[in-house]
Amino acid sequence: MRILSGIQASGVLHIGNYFGMMRPAIALQVEGEAFYFIADYHALTTVRDPKALRENTRGVALDFLACGLDPERATLFRQSDVPQVTELAWILSTVAPMGLLERAHSYKDKLARGLSATAGLFNYPVLMAADILIYDSDVVPVGKDQKQHIEITRDLAAKMNETFGPIFKLPEPRIEAATEVVPGLDGQKMSKSYGNNIDIFSDEKETRKRVMSIVTDSTRVEAPKDPSRSTIFQLYSLVASKDQIANMRERFQKGGTGYSDFKRELFEKLWEYFAPMRKCREEILADKSYIDNVLARGAERANQVADHVMTRVRAAVGL
Ligand code: TYM
Repeated sequence: MRILSGIQASGVLHIGNYFGMMRPAIALQVEGEAFYFIADYHALTTVRDPKALRENTRGVALDFLACGLDPERATLFRQSDVPQVTELAWILSTVAPMGLLERAHSYKDKLARGLSATAGLFNYPVLMAADILIYDSDVVPVGKDQKQHIEITRDLAAKMNETFGPIFKLPEPRIEAATEVVPGLDGQKMSKSYGNNIDIFSDEKETRKRVMSIVTDSTRVEAPKDPSRSTIFQLYSLVASKDQIANMRERFQKGGTGYSDFKRELFEKLWEYFAPMRKCREEILADKSYIDNVLARGAERANQVADHVMTRVRAAVGL
């Protein structure tokens, strides 16, 4: 089984990225041949500062490694180290129906947020399809927000197969029900672009500040509270043990504890949960060439697979 996923190099990673994609991806690295990459071509649709893009790319590699990606098992690489993927994106774009791309939620969301309507933004799902298909991927672990992109990938693969004969496998999304949408501070999907993120590796003061600013309703301290509608409880459920979760649920329902006490408990657990990753991150940072070596090895392996698939694609389409 080949597993593939990507993460944009558009800034520091938050716990939505971690629970939605990184943790499942790390768990899958022992179940098959995993390919994980940092999507710097995709990040170019929003990041215009070359220095920031370069730093973000290395930063994502560092954080992914610190969180448990094992480069002896999984191939970690930069998307742009395999430029053949842009060739495949072009080929796919020649069969991609405009209507299919026009229906993409993420494109519409980005325009609604005020990003200008560039061709790159519009073609974003085509490049993502190329990312997936160029590695003959079977399974793609992602959060729910990427589901439609995987469906588009399957549509494009099927269209290519219909037109040119069997070239591509049809990949399956792997979405963990419990973490498919990790809520942010305001209860909406956690996202850097909404400013409601809690980052994995912020310092203690900042992390505490973010947790304490989770939006709550005006239920009084004494009154019972609904855990299922609370962002605090949902996030706590990701990092606490079964007993601790049951205990917090009970205290929510009983009343007598205020939201700020629950937030303090959430902060403690969250801080404790990521402690081993913070330690690992320090160790990686101490070895100056580690990340570059991992990425260079990853690029080599990814290129081998991509070249193999592109030979098949070029032959099939007549290039
Ligand atoms: P990106 O960089 O926005 O997010 C990386 C991964 O994190 C997941 N995620 C979340 N999951 C649950 N709750 C949240 N609040 C949350 N926020 C983010 C995303 O679903 C994603 O899995 N287009 C992709 C990058 C990409 C890619 C690919 C992914 C490029 N090519 C090929 C898979 C295969 C993206 O922007 O993810």
